[in-house]
Amino acid sequence: MKVFINFLYLLLIQNFIFISVCQFVPDPRYEQTSTLVDNKIYFFGGSTRKPNYTNEVVYLDLSTLFNATWPLWVKNPMGIPSKEILASSCLSSIDNSTVFLIGGLSLDQTNQKIINPLLVYSFNSKTSQWNTVKTTGFYNYSVTLIRMNAVMNDDGNIYIFGGIQVNYTVKSTTHGSYLNKMNVFNTKTLTWSSLNLITNVPTPRASYTATLLNNSLIIYIGGLSKNKININMNEQTIGDTITARNAHSAVLTQDGRIIIFGGSSANSSTRTTTLRAYPDVAVLNTNVSPYKWSIPNISSANSPQSLCYHSAEIYKNIMIIAFGIITSDQLQTSAPLNKNIYLFNVQNYAWISSNTSTSIPPTSKETGSNNQSNDMTIGISVGISGFIFILSLIIGFSYYRHRKLKKNIIEIPGTDYYLTEISNNEKF
Ligand SMILES: *[C@@H]1O[C@H](CO)[C@@H](O)[C@H](O)[C@H]1NC(C)=O
Ligand SMILES: *[C@@H]1O[C@H](CO)[C@@H](O)[C@H](O)[C@H]1NC(C)=O
Ligand SMILES: *[C@@H]1O[C@H](CO)[C@@H](O)[C@H](O)[C@H]1NC(C)=O
Ligand SMILES: *[C@@H]1O[C@H](CO)[C@@H](O)[C@H](O)[C@H]1NC(C)=O
Ligand SMILES: *[C@@H]1O[C@H](CO)[C@@H](O)[C@H](O)[C@H]1NC(C)=O
Ligand SMILES: *[C@@H]1O[C@H](CO)[C@@H](O)[C@H](O)[C@H]1NC(C)=O
Ligand SMILES: *[C@@H]1O[C@H](CO)[C@@H](O)[C@H](O)[C@H]1NC(C)=O
Ligand SMILES: *[C@@H]1O[C@H](CO)[C@@H](O)[C@H](O)[C@H]1NC(C)=O
Ligand SMILES: *[C@@H]1O[C@H](CO)[C@@H](O)[C@H](O)[C@H]1NC(C)=O
Repeated sequence: MKVFINFLYLLLIQNFIFISVCQFVPDPRYEQTSTLVDNKIYFFGGSTRKPNYTNEVVYLDLSTLFNATWPLWVKNPMGIPSKEILASSCLSSIDNSTVFLIGGLSLDQTNQKIINPLLVYSFNSKTSQWNTVKTTGFYNYSVTLIRMNAVMNDDGNIYIFGGIQVNYTVKSTTHGSYLNKMNVFNTKTLTWSSLNLITNVPTPRASYTATLLNNSLIIYIGGLSKNKININMNEQTIGDTITARNAHSAVLTQDGRIIIFGGSSANSSTRTTTLRAYPDVAVLNTNVSPYKWSIPNISSANSPQSLCYHSAEIYKNIMIIAFGIITSDQLQTSAPLNKNIYLFNVQNYAWISSNTSTSIPPTSKETGSNNQSNDMTIGISVGISGFIFILSLIIGFSYYRHRKLKKNIIEIPGTDYYLTEISNNEKF
């Protein structure tokens, strides 16, 4: 008996050691992209400054108790086929389990030069396997998109406005042009097309956020214009004045509030030149017309560092912030990276203590906004009357149908280590 008990102890101790030793803590990173799939937030790639990009896929499992000081990170066994940054990812509306990873920049494994990855990969979150997706249309292997934000509608189309188109075969310091096209990737036919937008087409921009509302509008907020000026975020909105920024994040609440966090207000073509944007948190109410900004009065308790190039997802009423570059009131060129997770309650506008364990109820989908869509099939003709211009940095775009997605982060480029490459690439 005693032997048995000793054995149990031994087992326990071994488990403890095993768990302690094997607790995976990812390196801080930025320029990753994230997607919420069920109870997991997946983070794809990013730059860890160690010195190169990572192909890691890591996730946070939100279904268990969530202790933000010691979050349960898991490293997915299969990394992205290439190490990459500045891509955009979104969850398939068709099966709710496939993630499309689009665009980005990759690193040649042998000479560490920046190259384009395949334009589209798909990740099966059930099997953790990757597939390369061969697409047709006007993009091919020599061209990629970066610093854009993709949203997917119920119809199986992924909509990507703007971003920067990089032609890697043109090895000049100015390759990469800011777009104001609406590119559409049809995930059923695997073809690309570009909508023929005529009126009120917003100016080219990168590092904005895109949020799909349940009324079929995509709201584009902020970003950097091609002349490297942050785009005014207060045109055609009412309410508080919000500092223009890029590399911020946006999530949508069930009741139609878009919560933005962080970003850089530096008017700079250098991705790692960052400056805090005030306020850290602002709320755009999309239930009123015109849309209205407000700056909530948030207690400083548990408040995070200011960040840009981070990821944000919303799960139930909690906004979860991870990774990113820490911004400050001074222009910085290579500020430190964030290793913390921050939790924000979007109901009462309070940061949640990261040293108390937060129980996020595991059942039922978070924003639950998808339940009531069927009757709302909106037949607005895409591209013409369906295009609603809300502001020069907030544009609305109508779809046939709506589906609220919370793929909102803006991943922005950073350069740091690749000094030689930086001069070539930080302009993206
Ligand atoms: C970065 O590149 C070096 C040199 O090729 C390589 O040895 C190292 O494994 C890479 N590091 C990462 C994090 O990929
Ligand atoms: C995907 O999720 C949405 C919203 O939760 C749901 O309406 C839809 O039926 C799901 N589709 C599938 C194939 O599970
Ligand atoms: C991509 O398109 C360009 C221009 O049409 C063409 O020159 C190039 O061969 C294509 N590359 C591939 C891999 O198809
Ligand atoms: C990329 O650049 C190459 C070299 O200038 C050019 O031949 C090719 O057409 C470009 N590809 C696209 C899709 O613009
Ligand atoms: C759409 O969102 C609004 C909040 O903006 C909410 O009041 C409404 O119930 C939602 N409608 C549907 C069909 O989900
Ligand atoms: C960025 O440029 C805009 C437009 O010129 C200007 O209003 C704003 O103050 C600039 N921001 C910073 C941080 O320099
Ligand atoms: C913000 O909240 C604090 C604490 O509740 C309060 O003292 C302060 O007056 C509030 N400020 C504003 C502008 O409402
Ligand atoms: C949580 O952290 C805050 C600030 O670091 C500290 O003041 C507080 O005492 C901590 N609370 C607990 C329960 O450890
Ligand atoms: C959260 O994790 C930290 C680190 O393991 C631990 O010290 C702390 O007690 C945990 N908090 C709770 C409430 O479990």
